[in-house]
Amino acid sequence: MVQGAANWNTELTEEWLQNYVDDWVAFYRKMTSDGKVASYIPILEEANQNHLGITIMGNNGMTIRSGDTDIPFTIQSISKVISFIVGCMERGVQYMLDRVDVEPTGEAFNSIMHLEMKQLKKPFNPFINAGAITVTSMLEGNTSDEKLKPIIDLMERMFGYRPALNVDVYESERDSSMRNRAIGYYLLETGFLESDMNITLETYFKQCSIEITIDDLAKFGMILANDGEDPNSQEEIIPRPIARIAKALMLTCGMYDASGKFATYVGIPAKSGVSGGIIAVSPPRVREEELPFLDGCGIGVYGPALDEQGNSEAGIRLLRHIAKQWDLSIF
Ligand code: DON
Repeated sequence: MVQGAANWNTELTEEWLQNYVDDWVAFYRKMTSDGKVASYIPILEEANQNHLGITIMGNNGMTIRSGDTDIPFTIQSISKVISFIVGCMERGVQYMLDRVDVEPTGEAFNSIMHLEMKQLKKPFNPFINAGAITVTSMLEGNTSDEKLKPIIDLMERMFGYRPALNVDVYESERDSSMRNRAIGYYLLETGFLESDMNITLETYFKQCSIEITIDDLAKFGMILANDGEDPNSQEEIIPRPIARIAKALMLTCGMYDASGKFATYVGIPAKSGVSGGIIAVSPPRVREEELPFLDGCGIGVYGPALDEQGNSEAGIRLLRHIAKQWDLSIF
């Protein structure tokens, strides 16, 4: 018995687990007051500071939903996982990794320090803004809508519906994102961009502004937990090698300068977004005792009150608790 894991010596029914998760969400909702909703993209400040919700979708067909689960929000940086996957599917993994590295930076998601100080041959990873904007420039297509289409196509295959662009969020970021435009000019100067800078930034702002729910994140996470195959249809949605690289990057870079702590205290691949979303992936695991979701699950969390690293304050604490109770760590 792993220290800290609950003794689940009872039938792991959906109802039984639901009661526990409801209690945990109620408890960690109090922590939302320790965070602050994003404001550098002005419209994001309209989010409700106290919202917290979670959806857990298991490969075994079990789904637990608790808290604020029906709140639509924009995917933001979680879209970087999808754009990287699409780039690998379009161009091939080696093409992408020749142009963006797979190393964590330990810096904020929108830092440009390394670009200037280290005279890099390529951005550190595809999840910091410099790397993500580079990835978006590599996507096929000459207009933002052409570049965006395969991203939304992949979302539609995973989510079961075609998500829409939140135009208000797109316009709010488009009109306020001096930092990303500075990054864009750095990337233009260093020759990293493979498309027109303005088209690339327009695409990037749009991909971040696609509206989703935590059910969608849980479905995406479940497919990644299954190495790219949809457990319900047995259809390959994402080629296995690409799904595995995406999970490795999520583990090492997905939470930016909190990725080390998240890997240590939660121990599963995850990616955050500045509107408060987190996708987490619990691959199938072998344990001595019966524990929830042993054959894998995807988790979607929404909590717009952010910590200093731009990750959901209460969402991370809730995931840390669940990981300890259910011994989710892949280590
Ligand atoms: O580029 C930006 O700043 C936002 N569109 C996305 C940043 C983000 O989600 C960082 N993740 N916590």
